[in-house]
Amino acid sequence: MSSSRTTATAPEDAYTAEPFVPGRGGLPALRRAAAECRGCPLHRDATQTVFGAGSADARVMLVGEQPGDQEDLRGEPFVGPAGKLLDRALAEAGIDPGEAYVTNAVKHFKVTRAEPRKRRIHKAPSLREMTACGPWLAAELAVVEPELIVVLGATAGKALLGSSFRVTEVRGQVLEEEIHGRPERLVPTVHPSSVLRADDRESAYRGLVADLEVAARILS
Ligand code: URA
Ligand code: SF4
Repeated sequence: MSSSRTTATAPEDAYTAEPFVPGRGGLPALRRAAAECRGCPLHRDATQTVFGAGSADARVMLVGEQPGDQEDLRGEPFVGPAGKLLDRALAEAGIDPGEAYVTNAVKHFKVTRAEPRKRRIHKAPSLREMTACGPWLAAELAVVEPELIVVLGATAGKALLGSSFRVTEVRGQVLEEEIHGRPERLVPTVHPSSVLRADDRESAYRGLVADLEVAARILS
């Protein structure tokens, strides 16, 4: 990495994407600008920004945590194993994955570098990084104006609803909350990666589908 990139990052107490977010131009302008974001240090070790994907007309926005290994390499959200499981669960619940807008609370992959030659493992983003990246999510919400937000797991929940969010307490419920100054309707559920890690994968998967069915009923 060049030193100019390092110095271009804001000081630690001022991590924010805010100065990089354009005020106009829709999703294409946001995506272009996000590719240049230096709002926090996560851009340094990641391959590229992984911005949200989908139509500005989407009725439902799915919010995950942050890109994983495959997403980092391909530049698209939820294209790895968690994304495949999510697409299957959405379709089973009656939501066309192709019609959803899919994004993450944090737009750069945070990689652990303990064993450089092993498969790159993601590390949960800190509150500071989630807060820094929040202006991108706020801008996506302002453009897409979804009827419903599906919150995928604890990190997305904390990013949208605050640090007291507990996914086990509210999963499968319909919440009405003000987010970035706008009234939003949300259905939280578990992160699809947690299904892949569960001891009882089948029942974890059923639980995810049941929560997504709550979302599907709202959209129907
Ligand atoms: N997990 C996430 O939270 N987001 C992705 O895009 C991929 C995996
Ligand atoms: Fe910008 Fe978000 Fe990437 Fe940090 S994680 S550099 S705030 S896009």
